[in-house]
Amino acid sequence: MHEANADTDSPAVAHATVPTPVSVAVAPEQRRFFREQGYVVIPGVLSDAQLARGRALVDAILADDPPPPGHLGNLARWPRFGPDGHPLLDFYRDTGIARLAAGLVRTDLPLQDPDFAQLAVTIPPWQHWPGGPHLDGLTPPADDGVPGTFTLLAGVWLSDQSQFHQGNLWVWPGTHLRTGAYLAEHGAHALARPDELGPGPYPPVDLGTPTQATGPAGSVLFAHYLLAHNIGGHDGPEDAGWRRTLYYRLSAAGHRERWTTAVTEPLHEFQL
Ligand SMILES: [Fe+2]
Repeated sequence: MHEANADTDSPAVAHATVPTPVSVAVAPEQRRFFREQGYVVIPGVLSDAQLARGRALVDAILADDPPPPGHLGNLARWPRFGPDGHPLLDFYRDTGIARLAAGLVRTDLPLQDPDFAQLAVTIPPWQHWPGGPHLDGLTPPADDGVPGTFTLLAGVWLSDQSQFHQGNLWVWPGTHLRTGAYLAEHGAHALARPDELGPGPYPPVDLGTPTQATGPAGSVLFAHYLLAHNIGGHDGPEDAGWRRTLYYRLSAAGHRERWTTAVTEPLHEFQL
């Protein structure tokens, strides 16, 4: 599932570090929305300089490992962070994503730094409506039978997604709570039994009506691990910019040891 790492250590972007304005923080109504809906979009997190730096990092990854000629639609790259660090880890730290996410997570559970990122690109035009949602970290199954759960997903939007069908993430609001209830009844290890999931790697709960997460470039999306979600299409036009999102999977300290509680009590790791 993980593709080759990419060397993105470009001098042109390595020194463009501009801290996130301290005024950007999760407001109480945004925290309430996240708890109820399972996701929230925080606009205005990245400065123009940080947006430019993020786009340059993405360009470097794609230059090193480009899409096949003529490719349309979704494309993913999975750069892993080694012991010597990585420009995308520096980007995560410098943009204050952890500090922002800490406004959602319990104050006694500090967030661990991620050890990889996902670059998600959508090249238009790509007419695509997801047939259903998925959970991350379930496929392929882990050798030890423990699913790859985490606390929440952070998506850093490097392209405008103010309108629908611009490569936006599709989400099924409230499914983090319904799936938590399902797993409380059937046991957390149901996530490791693919024959009990579906269609797709998602528990058989009432999904409700999906929507698309929207917001301008420079926004950050936070999504609860249990939220049903999937990749959406990009209508274009053909010369529209590529949708570019950097995802980081974030775990609160000790998540591995409490993962069964985290998925059966879905607000356990989060602030009131
Ligand atoms: Fe996903």
